Amino acid sequence: MDMKEAIRHRRSIGKVKQDPVDKSLIEEILEAGTWAPNHCHTEPWRFWVMTGEGRRLLGQGYAEVAAAEADPTLSEEELSKLKSVQKKKAFRAPVVIAVAVTPSVKPVVPEIEEYAAAHAAVQNMLLTAYALGLGTIWRTGAPTYHPKMREAFSLVGKEELVGFIYIGYPDMEPPKAARVPFAQKTTWVSE
Ligand SMILES: Cc1cc2nc3c(=O)[nH]c(=O)nc-3n(C[C@H](O)[C@H](O)[C@H](O)COP(=O)(O)O)c2cc1C
Repeated sequence: MDMKEAIRHRRSIGKVKQDPVDKSLIEEILEAGTWAPNHCHTEPWRFWVMTGEGRRLLGQGYAEVAAAEADPTLSEEELSKLKSVQKKKAFRAPVVIAVAVTPSVKPVVPEIEEYAAAHAAVQNMLLTAYALGLGTIWRTGAPTYHPKMREAFSLVGKEELVGFIYIGYPDMEPPKAARVPFAQKTTWVSE
């Protein structure tokens, strides 16, 4: 697929089919992530591919975050219902890739640049998935950065999740999208 077409027409697809996605396609997506630019070759990323029951890893994370933040007066039954609703969120797509930034232990480059590289990896992955006919959505939300989610993914040190990429075959029309024209965001400087 033409790169310009992918950049222009990729949309966040929140509703996908549960049909399985070939491992070879997931590997192409991961490979694309690793080709993101990164300062001083730190390659500051880690990926978790969750499929099938493996999605319980994320589901458990959502459930533990919700439980930690829940009203302490909830009954056992209410808490259990809350956790079960949260767990289901991880099953919204047949494949979910968690992406974490792994800032170098020695401050080789500023941490902000390690995040930049990890975010660029995510964009590579979204575009590649689109080119492969897959729908994706980059999801975060407050639970992503919660200590209980860190615990679920056994993050250490400065590692942080930068998002969950939900992937599957689209089960919706791409939403309409608009952008502020670049002219309104750009200053041309020529002398
Ligand atoms: C860092 C980041 C986090 C995001 N988190 C969410 C999210 O939690 N839920 C969601 O529905 N969309 C999320 N999105 C997707 C945006 O909502 C989406 O990119 C935006 O609406 C523009 O639509 P488009 O991707 O179709 O161009 C996130 C995007 C980014 C860059």
